[in-house]
Amino acid sequence: MKTYKIAVIAGDGIGPEVIDEGIRVLNEVAKLDGRFRFDFTHFPWGCEFYKKHGKMMDDDGVEKLKKHDAIFLGAVGAPGVPDHISLWDLLLTIRKSFDQYINLRPVKLLKGAPCPLKNAKEEDINMTFVRENTEGEYAGSGAWLYKNSPNEVVIQNGVFSRKGCERVIRYAYELAKSQNKTLTSISKANALNYSMVFWDKIFKEVGKDYPEVKTYSYLVDAASMFMVKDPKRFEIVVTSNLFGDILTDLGAAIAGGMGLAAGANLNPERVYPSMFEPIHGSAPDIAGKGVANPLATIWSASQMLDFFGYADWGAKLIDCIEELLVENKTLTPDLGGNASTREVGDAIINKLKNSSAN
Ligand code: NAD
Ligand code: IPM
Ligand code: MN
Repeated sequence: MKTYKIAVIAGDGIGPEVIDEGIRVLNEVAKLDGRFRFDFTHFPWGCEFYKKHGKMMDDDGVEKLKKHDAIFLGAVGAPGVPDHISLWDLLLTIRKSFDQYINLRPVKLLKGAPCPLKNAKEEDINMTFVRENTEGEYAGSGAWLYKNSPNEVVIQNGVFSRKGCERVIRYAYELAKSQNKTLTSISKANALNYSMVFWDKIFKEVGKDYPEVKTYSYLVDAASMFMVKDPKRFEIVVTSNLFGDILTDLGAAIAGGMGLAAGANLNPERVYPSMFEPIHGSAPDIAGKGVANPLATIWSASQMLDFFGYADWGAKLIDCIEELLVENKTLTPDLGGNASTREVGDAIINKLKNSSAN
């Protein structure tokens, strides 16, 4: 039987609460399928670890993770540890070390999910964000000069390489072509006169290889307005690291909330493990109460199943989530219900069992 070795970094706050349900759901899928199993190894890394050991993960953490087929991550960040340390020394290190240059984030309004937009129908909100995930505004290049003096100066550089732009843009074209969808590039070349002019140029260049793909190009300010006013314009979307971060939280807001927003950090060449995670953070405001919504994590588990070649199971999981939303009985408080994290996990597992029995 095929065994998938999964490294689990549950992390901080609601991370462990939601990841538990993701693991239970994945184990249920494996049990029902019978052809494969999961072998989960837990790594106790995160802010508690930092408070004890002065570092976010083991010194050879990246080496340890490399031996796995995928990483399943909850969330990182806790009061008492500066966010730029907790995130740079764990999450961003993993994305960069494993060249997970594609961040695939579905923004899809399922039936039964709450939507703050008046008159929006499910079919109007169905996009896939392809976010650049290793460089750009998140390159970590800069300096802090004359620190703590009246003359201090900080510099944060955006780094856009030809290789980095081409590969994410090409991935998005391929996705649009294979799904027969339009492709929208989101940038900001009117103000960012080097990086985004370069991005737009590469978007056009790569597009020459895909004459069949209908394309659009928007400035990020207008794009955020259209995501609210006319979301059906967007199908496949490709954008830079920072713009993708911001626009996918906006996407979450129009497609059911943070509790439903998932993401896959992919190394498409499969040289390194890819990482699957909800896009939300550690939510310190609700941590420890057992009410965090695990559906985003379960959705990211479905992306993991897709990536391993079990798209039928991936789709089935999304169907189970949708059924749960439509029933409107077992939902966490963010979706207007009063169920616990565990009860939502149980409900998804029951649905999986029932759908396989039919
Ligand atoms: P957040 O996503 O943690 O929370 C924003 C709001 O959404 C909160 O009101 C929270 O209660 C709610 N929310 C988020 N996930 C939810 C869920 N599953 N169910 C119900 N409600 C949910 O963002 P934040 O408050 O800006 O950040 C908190 C911490 O998390 C910070 O330390 C930040 O750096 C970190 N962070 C980590 C990641 C990650 O690990 N991938 C992502 C974003 C933020
Ligand atoms: C996300 C998060 C991260 C990002 C942070 C925590 C560094 O917000 O995955 O969306 O900006 O990529
Ligand atoms: Mn984010």
